[in-house]
Amino acid sequence: MKNADLAIINASELATPSGFKAASGKDTGRLKIIQDAAVAAHEGRIVFVGSMGQFRKECSLTPDAKVIDASGGTIIPGFVDCHTHLPFAGFRDEEFLLRVSGATYEEIARVGGGIWNTVKRTREASLEKLAALSLRRLDRMLLHGTTTCEAKSGYGLTLKDEMKQLEAIRKAARKHPVRVIPTLLGAHTIPGEYKNDRECYVSLIIEKMIPEVVEGRLAEFCDVFCDEHGFSLDESRRIITAAKSFGLKIKVHADQFSSSGGSTLAAEFGAASADHLENISDDDIDKLARSGTVGVLLPGSVYFLLKKSYAPARKMLSAGMALAISTDFNPGSSMTESMLQIIQLSVFMMDISVDEALTMATLNGAAALGRADRIGSLEVGKDADILIMDIPSHIHLAYHFGINHCSDVIIKGKACVENGKRIQ
Ligand code: NIG
Ligand code: FE
Repeated sequence: MKNADLAIINASELATPSGFKAASGKDTGRLKIIQDAAVAAHEGRIVFVGSMGQFRKECSLTPDAKVIDASGGTIIPGFVDCHTHLPFAGFRDEEFLLRVSGATYEEIARVGGGIWNTVKRTREASLEKLAALSLRRLDRMLLHGTTTCEAKSGYGLTLKDEMKQLEAIRKAARKHPVRVIPTLLGAHTIPGEYKNDRECYVSLIIEKMIPEVVEGRLAEFCDVFCDEHGFSLDESRRIITAAKSFGLKIKVHADQFSSSGGSTLAAEFGAASADHLENISDDDIDKLARSGTVGVLLPGSVYFLLKKSYAPARKMLSAGMALAISTDFNPGSSMTESMLQIIQLSVFMMDISVDEALTMATLNGAAALGRADRIGSLEVGKDADILIMDIPSHIHLAYHFGINHCSDVIIKGKACVENGKRIQ
């Protein structure tokens, strides 16, 4: 008999990927699906996943156990949103209006809008203000089923302001049940004051930001926007080399607007992930497939920027790559906290099956954050990060689109959302 202090019973279906590492290639769509299902946990870890029949035979509840009746809903793992730009101030709704009437993201960035626009407002915001903004966004993520998210700096771009963003992430994370993984993105764009001295800014990242972030344990990952609008291949390589030597794990914004070589770099340095990949070359697809670096696809940014160039997901899966999907939540290129929306976009626009999308939004997101051994699937031993969706089967995640189906959210065995409402 398995002791359980939490049980979720009477689900019409339970659907989950399996394993303790990313699923790649054709395994991406391999889900475990159980009808009339239950899941149970003890002290925050999953102890049972199976049918109601097995549950009655194999589980014994502690006297104070919490039992949640899924009432015919579908149980899935918590979403892992592995690429977000969480702590920013101000919006870019005025740029959005320009874009929907014909201006491109790149044109707006060239005349001082874009990332730089948000940098100015984020520099003006206090740490407390950024933490409060982040908390509201974490609330929205939670209500939509995200149980772990990554959060990047990258709108400060001075030593002080990058630290402020990372401190704000830490402050918000301490007050919130969603697990937040911080990333230094000092290399997001060259700030205005260094336009004529790029080298000086690259040195600031390498000599000051990376050491201070490591010293203060403010980030686990270092990310670089390797692109003609961001950092050159050579600059990116130097920043990544420094970050790695300080023990930070690596992520790269790669091949977003052109084939920049960012994926080659990610593969060469064994990065945890290479993100975007809308313009990845066939050669780089092979390199990423061989390196085991997770490709993180961000269809929300393609959709929101009114582009047609979705990442070639099917080609990457055929080459055997491991792929995750994520919101890329930010005010300029993807203003959504909803992983359900991203699952739907992946299915509708990237030729991804619903089963593949579920793996990409959970287990493979966890792998992109180096945590596939602890979260991302429902199996014995993993953290009890569990969602109840108010739908009869996981197919409805995409089929019934435009709706937040998330009714209950459990993180590490604690119920945080019940019937669509925050309870802690
Ligand atoms: O991932 N490409 C760079 N960074 C973001 C956009 C950030 C912004 O526009 O503020 C992205 O799409
Ligand atoms: Fe991004």
